[in-house]
Parts: sequence; structure tokens; C-alpha cells
Amino acid sequence: MYIKRRSGWEMPERLATPESVFLNRRALLGGVAGLAATSLVGVEGAFAAADPTSGLYPAARNEAYTLDRPLTAEKFSADYNNFYEFGTSKTVLPAANALKTRPWTLKIDGLVEKPFEIGIDDLVRKMTLEERLYRHRCVEAWSMSVPWTGFPLSKLVALAKPASGAKYLRMETFMDKSMAPGQRSFLYPWPYVEGLTMEEANNDLAFIATGIYGKPLANQFGAPIRLAVPWKYGFKSVKSIVKLSFVAERPKTFWEGLQASEYGFWANVNPAVSHPRWSQASERVLGTDQRVPTLIYNGYGEQVAGLYKGLENERLFV
Ligand code: MTE
Repeated sequence: MYIKRRSGWEMPERLATPESVFLNRRALLGGVAGLAATSLVGVEGAFAAADPTSGLYPAARNEAYTLDRPLTAEKFSADYNNFYEFGTSKTVLPAANALKTRPWTLKIDGLVEKPFEIGIDDLVRKMTLEERLYRHRCVEAWSMSVPWTGFPLSKLVALAKPASGAKYLRMETFMDKSMAPGQRSFLYPWPYVEGLTMEEANNDLAFIATGIYGKPLANQFGAPIRLAVPWKYGFKSVKSIVKLSFVAERPKTFWEGLQASEYGFWANVNPAVSHPRWSQASERVLGTDQRVPTLIYNGYGEQVAGLYKGLENERLFV
């Protein structure tokens, strides 16, 4: 007898909203995928009209990563962003239009067989794109559920061929004060840097997103390439990556550089461990007036809790 085992991140069917609206939208988008020259600028933000890989979207959904909870409508998630390079408000969409996403080169260096650079479109074409529905829980206690398109980070790690001495993956955002007014501020330790252990980077859930809502990432989401690690607070999911370095030492992250006591390296979601200035017990669901209980590892414990065995003395939840 076939028994479907409900994964930790899934929610009961009765809480699901019909996806028909979303699916119709995907079908529609699929139909116009060839119209790559169409430029959309509105509440959804700008996405590169000249994106040579836009025909690859929408990608087939990987049903192992669906969730039976409502997706956040794009009109909410696309106009409520954290992207400090373009300002500290949530309305960074207009400023993020200045982000130039082509040409875009990703540099791979550090402890690898041979450092190299690869253009974003070559990289995207090398990978098999898939869609995954993921939760996203910001450290500020709001959350959303979105359909990312991209590929597992482990595939990029495999492409890089790290040496055995590589213990961490350091990821860096672009640095260009002329494009990003936020980077002119001396209050922040630019560029934005994040890091994962190699075990975390190779976990199935660690995902590189190049698209969202069935099309290439709009600028404010961190175009053209960002991380999505849904069991960690959102600040770990670094946007607009230009460099991946395989290193032996734990990298110092942007937020640690700013306030290590409040934003640590691990930053795993845990409702029982408060932020020094607010509770993490529940979260406001973007686009609704609901607050729902926060789940340990944001509901993904089954997939990731094992990564932290033997690390109990670390500040795993800050
Ligand atoms: N990456 C960069 N480069 N700059 C940022 O300011 N903000 C982080 C993360 N990645 C940030 C970033 C935070 S705090 C969150 S919650 C998420 O991006 C927000 O992602 P979203 O705007 O796509 O919802």
C-alpha cells in the first residue's frame, strides 16, 4: 500500500489555497516565454528584457518541494524586500531598477581544482532549471512562500571542484556604488557577504535561484542569481552574487560585521530562541493579516537537523 509521508514543511490540505490562479498564470507566462523582448516594469519590478535565458522559464516544478500552504502573491513579495544596497526601506523596487544584470560574471576561487569565471547565461544553460516552492522566514518575523526557479547549490559546488581543505563556502554580492546608493554609506561593511559550511551547501535544500514566479528574478529579488536557504533566517540568502570562494576558515558575514550579537553565522530558524530585541515565536505572513507560529528550522528539520549534530555548543539559532 502506498502511504504518502507528509514532509515536515507541508501543511494540511485544508489550509491550502487553490493554486489554479497561480498555475493559470504560469501557463500564460509559458505561452509568452518567447516574447523575451517584452519589458515588464510595474509592481513586479523590472526584469531584464534582454535576458538571453528567459525562454527557459517557467521550469518544471520539482514536486518534492511543494508545500500545502498558500503562495504569497507576487504583488506583495515583489514590493516588500530587503536589499540594503538599494536602501533600508522595504520599497527598494524603484531603486533596484538601476541594477545592471548583463553582462554578469560569477567568479569561483579559493580552494578549488582551478579557479574560473563563468557568465550567468552559460551557467544557467549548464544547469537543469527546476521550480521549488519554499518558505522564507525573515529574522524580522515576517514570512512568505514563493516559487523559486533555479538549481541545487550542490551542482554549483560540483562544478567548482573544491579541494578537501575547503570547509566553508563564502558568497559575495556585487560592489558598485554608482549603481547601488546604499553602498555609499559607511555604516555598513560592504560588500554583502554570507557563508555556509560545505555540508550545508551540499544539502538538498540549499538552492540557487535565478528565477521566481516562473520568470527570471526581478532585480529587487537579487537578480540575476541568489541563494535560498529556507531553514535559515532570510539574511543568509545572499542576493546578486558575483563571487563564490571555497575557504578553510569560517567567513565573517555582513551582518556579523554589523552586529554579531544579533546576527550570527548559523542563523537557523528557532521559535524558542528570541532575537535579543524581539520574540521569534511567530511570524506575520506577508499579504495577509495572519500571524502563524514559527517552526523550528522553518519546518525543514527533517532535512537539515542532522547537519548540526555535534555543534550543540555553537550559537546555532542566532
Ligand atoms: N542580500 C543582499 N545582497 N543584500 C541584502 O540587503 N537582505 C537579506 C537577504 N539577502 C539582503 C540580501 C534579507 S535580510 C532578507 S530577509 C532577504 O534577502 C530578503 O529577500 P527578498 O527581498 O527577496 O524577500
